[in-house]
Amino acid sequence: MTAHPDVTTFFDTVSNTFSYVVKDPASDACAIVDSVLDFDYASGKVSYKSADEIVAHVSKHGLNVEWLIETHVHADHLSAAPYLQEKVGGKIGIGEQITAVQETFGKVFNEGTEFQRDGSQFDRLFADGATFSIGAMQALAISTPGHTPACMTYVIGDAAFVGDTLFMPDGGTARADFPGGDARQLYRSIKRVLALPAETRLFMCHDYGPNGRDILNETTVADQIAHNIHVHEGVSEEEFVQMRTARDATLAMPKLIIPSLQVNMKAGALPDPEANGQRYLRVPINGL
Ligand SMILES: [Fe+2]
Repeated sequence: MTAHPDVTTFFDTVSNTFSYVVKDPASDACAIVDSVLDFDYASGKVSYKSADEIVAHVSKHGLNVEWLIETHVHADHLSAAPYLQEKVGGKIGIGEQITAVQETFGKVFNEGTEFQRDGSQFDRLFADGATFSIGAMQALAISTPGHTPACMTYVIGDAAFVGDTLFMPDGGTARADFPGGDARQLYRSIKRVLALPAETRLFMCHDYGPNGRDILNETTVADQIAHNIHVHEGVSEEEFVQMRTARDATLAMPKLIIPSLQVNMKAGALPDPEANGQRYLRVPINGL
């Protein structure tokens, strides 16, 4: 029988990111998907309001956090996974192609040899088809690259956490123009997600409320196939690639891409303090 996890949604209004607590209905076990560390770039200040909402939820319901999973290396917000791990436990997991992301951005940020590009900053690297358990539930990791090389979709019972492969049907799809992104790969990855059972609940990573509608985070495979403005049934790979490429050429970089990549490629660890005890982020001039 397919498990029907309890999904609690948290929304960060600054980056329009959804975080999820995915609970096994048969136990106290849960996983936290795509947490957010609040970061004000202008002042260099980090804070924990978003993460503390999740901590409060976990303690209120007496949950046992088994996993802190990332659908990908986010470019628009910092991950709160290390903070949450310290507060509530859990193993930090991401797709095994994180090594490709570390290779690319290790160069961009001129990281020294002490920065291991082997994903060892994470507790678990998921290969395509890897399974893991959350209490009594079996979860399946599917590699869905295109937006980034390390993008994963996590299928947990009748729910799938699609990261930035798909947006809500009226939002279409995520961009594929970051280093290592690939529109053709994205199309093929989306087809894998849409091959899941029609009634599968799909949970988004972002929503921007297109055309003034309220923010939404949940849809189904059937709904995406019928209505997704970029990849509904009948849109060919060529049509998609053309549309995606033309559209991506018009998009500005996300505001927090530079701090986000620097931190998230290291499993959310902030840079080590320098000799004066202060931590610094780097900005590569014309380097992105
Ligand atoms: Fe993303």
